[in-house]
Amino acid sequence: MIVIKTPDEIERMRAACKAAAETLAAVAREVQPGRTTAELNDVAAELIAKLGGKSPFLGYKGYPGHICVSVNEEVVHGIPSKRRVQYGDIVSLDIGIILDGFVGDNATTVAVGVVEARTQQLLQVTQQALQAGIAAARAGNRVGDISHAVQTTVESQGFSVVREFVGHGVGRKMHEEPQIPNYGRSGDGPKLKPGMTLAIEPMINAGTSDVVMLSDGWTVVSADGAPSAHFEHTVLVTDGDAEILTWLRKSPYESKAR
Ligand code: MF3
Ligand code: CO
Repeated sequence: MIVIKTPDEIERMRAACKAAAETLAAVAREVQPGRTTAELNDVAAELIAKLGGKSPFLGYKGYPGHICVSVNEEVVHGIPSKRRVQYGDIVSLDIGIILDGFVGDNATTVAVGVVEARTQQLLQVTQQALQAGIAAARAGNRVGDISHAVQTTVESQGFSVVREFVGHGVGRKMHEEPQIPNYGRSGDGPKLKPGMTLAIEPMINAGTSDVVMLSDGWTVVSADGAPSAHFEHTVLVTDGDAEILTWLRKSPYESKAR
């Protein structure tokens, strides 16, 4: 069963998602050469607490971090550690927050300085795929329309879709129905209705789509060692364009001097 959120629940989703987006932006700014991924985790943990929330990741099936930090060929679920971020890396941050009973979930991949041209293109294509997926998240469309939009955006540009992990409904729980694969056929799957809240999250590889789980039981890496990117937004399905709940409305570049 796919939960349709009430207006009150939608307001609470907006608040949780805003907090998740603020935390993601704040941690993204800290991704600098020399920083350990554990330090990034600590920055997130502090801010999440300050915002009055909790990490829905911590303790989930025994997951040991407040956030996931996945570097270069790491696809998702990288565990914060003593590893130091280096110039030329890409760093995927996956950050959720549970606030007032509702979960906001989002992810981004940050380039540390100048990265290889194909890696830069990977980041652009993955963002584009997320935007295409969001554009397809309209009432009357089906989940498969989102999946198809993501897949065609990625594959038409020579990149590959990770199949083992999917987007998902999100609300009182981090993972609700429906599952949202990043590949599939238009017209397949459940119909989208206003009031559904969905986490759309393409995980895209520069090389093979195959992935391998490391011996820590969490970190997922690309099978060929090529870089991987991950962007995620939580969105609200409406009668028109989806509302991107984890969009930061206030630009950091806004200034009074205008
Ligand atoms: N944000 C991830 C998702 O959408 C959750 C991370 S898995 C965890 O599925 F174990 F770290 F929580
Ligand atoms: Co998610």
